[in-house]
Amino acid sequence: MVTSLGEGVSPGTAHDAAAAGIVVIAVPRDRVPEAVQGLAWSGQVVIDATNDWAADDLQGKTSSELVADLVLGARVVKAGNTLGAEVLGSDPQEAGGRRVIFISGDDADAKAEVVAVFQDAGFATIDLGSLATGGAMQQIHHPLAGVNFIRL
Ligand SMILES: NC(=O)c1ccc[n+]([C@@H]2O[C@H](COP(=O)([O-])OP(=O)(O)OC[C@H]3O[C@@H](n4cnc5c(N)ncnc54)[C@H](OP(=O)(O)O)[C@@H]3O)[C@@H](O)[C@H]2O)c1
Repeated sequence: MVTSLGEGVSPGTAHDAAAAGIVVIAVPRDRVPEAVQGLAWSGQVVIDATNDWAADDLQGKTSSELVADLVLGARVVKAGNTLGAEVLGSDPQEAGGRRVIFISGDDADAKAEVVAVFQDAGFATIDLGSLATGGAMQQIHHPLAGVNFIRL
């Protein structure tokens, strides 16, 4: 699998991944607790790309706020969850513009790092605000889920 993904990819454990400056959580939402169990967090940027399809009781919080509770010490940014994998993996330059990635988070510096990652990859970004307000808009079944904007 690593070979098929191409250059710049290497395999590792969850502990290896958590030691990176920017970590992406891309497992099914109900598997997040076990995926992050026992990992140490101290300032890493954690991109929450998950969607909580089965959510019926989020205890008044957004899905990403609950993810943030599971990675205390990390700085969580919700991003990359609103587009299907096929669209997300396609050329972000389209129709003379750039595909939009929505981001939300409570730490401005963390969001700036995530913006840089996506902009370097050719995307445009729109900052929606906090995990509570922006994160809610990005959640599955909410207004921006599946929305494929191109910024011209
Ligand atoms: N697919 C999409 O179009 C899309 C788009 C946006 C967001 N998302 C979100 O991204 C997340 C992943 O989606 P997906 O479609 O890639 O799901 P998936 O095909 O089910 O892939 C899940 C991956 O997570 C790994 N995994 C599961 N439990 C784990 C654990 N406890 N520790 C470490 N790794 C674990 C699996 O590894 P093993 O096979 O080895 O168990 C597998 O590689 C979901 O939350 C989904 O809602 C998906």
